[in-house]
Amino acid sequence: MSAATTPAVGHDELAVLKLLALEGGLTGSLKISCSGLADRLDASNQTASRRLRRLENADFLERDTVSDGQWVSITEAGERALRAEYEDYRRIFETDAEVELEGTVTSGMGEGRHYISLSGYKRQFEDRLGYEPFPGTLNVDLTTESVRRRSALESLDPIPIDGWEDEERTYGPAVCYPATVETADGERYEGAHTIAPERTHHDEDQLEIIAPEKLRDELDLTDGDHLTIYVGDH
Ligand code: CDP
Repeated sequence: MSAATTPAVGHDELAVLKLLALEGGLTGSLKISCSGLADRLDASNQTASRRLRRLENADFLERDTVSDGQWVSITEAGERALRAEYEDYRRIFETDAEVELEGTVTSGMGEGRHYISLSGYKRQFEDRLGYEPFPGTLNVDLTTESVRRRSALESLDPIPIDGWEDEERTYGPAVCYPATVETADGERYEGAHTIAPERTHHDEDQLEIIAPEKLRDELDLTDGDHLTIYVGDH
């Protein structure tokens, strides 16, 4: 078969990627045959093989050909492409949905107190969240599952906090979402907010929460306590 120049991966190729993911291609290598795949796609062998090649060229798929078929596994870039589709569907079907995150209370490096108290942020909290926050952020170490689920926050309506500057430096924009915090005993605190810097994706495994009051006192929390945080519309 000639190696025709391959255009970018399109819907047909993504459909193949989805099929492979459904068969387990995200968690390890998967053995497939071109004719088997062609059957599933209701397409010719050539078509199936072309789509696999395009996925491989786009680095969405790794392939290892053996005598009776090939081993394929979906790469990280491939997973990201599938996840982007997933986020689209989430936006379509889960608008205004609540995202449930879990983790344990942890101590940060004492920076929250400083940032939350800065006047440029403080007046926006008062205007947009409706309260002056307790000076600090409650840090929550998210479970692996919740780190993954965190991307679902992007489908919710954020409360934007604008960046600003003083004579010395600039302070970046941030994004808040309304949140309810629940302890393992089922005690709930409503009216809190998550807060995260806009656009940076470091520290995805830490969730920071602000509230009018000190949550450690209100909910009797110590490091290591398990929390469920319901993020979204209330
Ligand atoms: O040291 P760390 O970065 O964790 O804390 P901070 O942001 O300076 O906040 C001071 C203390 O208040 C920490 O123990 C936070 O966990 C806690 N806190 C709270 O209980 N409730 C809030 N609404 C904010 C902070």
